Formats: sequence, C-alpha cells, structure tokens
Amino acid sequence: QPAAPAVEPSAAALRDSALLRAARGEEVPHTPVWFMRQAGRSLPEYRRLREGVPMLESCMRPELVVEITLQPVRRYGVDAAIFFSDIVLPMKAVGVDLDIKPGVGPVVASPVETLADVAAIPDLTPEHVPFITESIRTLVGELGATPLIGFAGAPFTVASYLVEGGPSKEHARTKAMMFGAPDVWDALMRKIASISAAYLKVQVDAGASAVQLFDSWAGAMSPEDYRRYVMPYSTAVLSAAGELGVPRIHFGVGTGELLGLMGDAGADVVGIDWRVPLADGIRRVGGRAVQGNLDPSLVFAPTELMLARAAEVLEAGRAAPGHIFNLGHGVMPSTDPDQLARLTDFVHETTAR
Ligand code: CP3
Repeated sequence: QPAAPAVEPSAAALRDSALLRAARGEEVPHTPVWFMRQAGRSLPEYRRLREGVPMLESCMRPELVVEITLQPVRRYGVDAAIFFSDIVLPMKAVGVDLDIKPGVGPVVASPVETLADVAAIPDLTPEHVPFITESIRTLVGELGATPLIGFAGAPFTVASYLVEGGPSKEHARTKAMMFGAPDVWDALMRKIASISAAYLKVQVDAGASAVQLFDSWAGAMSPEDYRRYVMPYSTAVLSAAGELGVPRIHFGVGTGELLGLMGDAGADVVGIDWRVPLADGIRRVGGRAVQGNLDPSLVFAPTELMLARAAEVLEAGRAAPGHIFNLGHGVMPSTDPDQLARLTDFVHETTAR
C-alpha cells in the first residue's frame, strides 16, 4: 500500500501550474498568459449576466462573481483567473458611501479631507466580506489546477478616488493633501494599506494562490515623491502579503521611471505597461519576474500584426527570470474576444517546451 501523498494531487498540480512557476522564476511548460480585465464588458456572456445588476452589487453576489470569473477561463483557456471585484469594493464593504457609475468609474459621496474623515473609516475584518470568502471557496473548487489571482488596490490609487471623489487625470487634490497635509495623508495611506492587506488575507485564506496589487495611477508620481509618499505604504501591503506565502504581482500604468522602486516595494513579479520596451523593463526591475506588456490597442490591428508584436514580447520576456504574458493594461470593452482567443493560443503554441 503506497503512502498517502503529502499534498493532494490537485494542490500539487496547482502549485506546479505555469503561472505560479513563472512567478517563482522556475522553468515553465509554456509561457503563462492572462489578461487584466479579462472578465468584463468585452464578453457578451458578461453583459448578459450583468443586465440590470449594478456593478458593486454584482461583486457581492457569489453566484455572479463565480460565473463572471470563470467566463474568460472557459472561453480562452488562460492560465489564471482574476477574481471579479473592484479595488473600491473593500471601502464599500466597510461602509464608505461610494458607487461605481457606468462609463465613469468609482464615485465617492463625501471625499476625504480631514483626520476625522480618515478616522471614520473602519478597519476591514472578514465579517465585512463574507461574500468574498464564499465566492473564492467555490471558485477554487471549480478552477482545480488553474490559479486564482486575488487583488487589491494600492494605497495611492485608492486614496486618489477617496480624496478626489471620483476619477482624476491630474490627482491635484490628492497631491495637495500629500504635500500640504502630510499628517492626514499618512493616516489615510496607513488606513488604506491596512484595509488592502486585510482584504488580500481574506482572499488568500479562502484559496487565492497569487495576488496582484494594482497601483494603476502611481505613474502620476515622480520617483522622489513616489519613494517618499507612496512606496512605504505599498511596501506595508506587499510585506503583509508576503507572510501569506503566495506570489505578489505589483502593477501600475505609466510607471517607466518607477519600475525598480515598485519591485523593491516587495514584488515577486512587476507588471510593465506597453510604453516601456519589455527588455528595458526587465533591466529596470533586475532579477525579478515580469508581467506584460502588449499594447492593449494591438487587438484592433490585423491578427498577423498583433501576433508578430506578441512574438516580440515573448522573445524579450526570455531575458527575465520569469515572464507572465499579459497586455500592458486592461482589456478594452470594445475588444473582440476572438482576438484574445487567438492571442492565448499563439502564446501557448509558440512557447510550448
Ligand atoms: O477581469 C478583471 O480584471 C477583474 C475585475 C476588475 C474590475 N476592476 C472590474 C470592473 C479589476 C481587477 C478591477 C480593478 C480596478 N478597478 C482598477 C485597477 C485596474 C486597472 O484597470 O488599472 C481600477 C483603477 C479600478 C477602478 C474602476 N472601476 C474603473 C476605472 C472602472 C471603469 C469605469 C468605466 O466604466 O469605464 C471601474 C468599473 C469596473 N470595474 C468595471 C469592471 C468590469 C466596469 C463596470 C461595468 O461592467 O459596469
């Protein structure tokens, strides 16, 4: 009678999946691929399911979260699922009055201005988000050996929504607080860091096998100000996530000058947007795995051109200790899903070892 295996076969297959191997910088059977915003408006099956259901409500209904998260995995055969939620969901869950307006983004009823405003935001406990735990437990069972990526917003990007009250290009009010009211800024960034860390822990405890910290708007910062006003708080989230024993991906847009710092904040994998040639990005994050970075607009190009550019990204990615293929930012709503299907197959076929 052979001894029972130390880990059950599906857990072993998951740990051995292409995505987790690449994130750890190990040899891979093929380059893993997934797409930021793969679950969402580019899919007709998503639009059907979401009809009449507000965005944040859909994030709180496990049967919808599970189905929406699985849709792109079924359709494309990507190497990871990304949990369907939003970076402002934990704020909503602890009681911040906010909504996601279609075509606009997160809108906050009473923007944060003072220390009292910050103190009024509760810390997040698992009891705030039972629907997250339930959704992830179900998903992990359904996904088997396909990893589920959990995620949270990084303190700067979430702070921008809370301080501006909505989407912003310049982040002027946010920076006014950062430079002019450093005590309020510090309190707010600590609060968000603690909420994001707690939110990631809930997801990993429920079975997520990697996490991504989205600092989408960090590219608004100079390296000096990033180091001083942003990095310590992202470092706090990433080091807390490090205790959970899963790979940490750290991503932002327009972060060409910040890539080294974003790696040093404690990432195992640094996400690179399409403005930086991947080979340069790999040098800047020196020694870490990378994720990226095909221009998301290339899906609108003729298929041959899209695939030729993907081949260049894959070639450049070979210089990194690990490469996870992705777009340089999220899938745009008008993307033709068939192009993403071709792209996924191409990555798998041309990198099979
Ligand atoms: O597939 C996935 O990536 C998982 C789901 C996901 C959503 N938001 C769903 C969503 C993820 C990972 C996010 C993260 C998120 N949310 C970020 C970081 C990622 C990035 O793109 O940089 C940011 C900055 C947000 C804030 C936010 N929420 C924006 C800017 C928007 C879009 C506004 C718009 O309508 O153009 C949202 C809404 C949102 N989040 C949608 C989805 C599917 C669209 C809402 C809808 O379908 O009605």
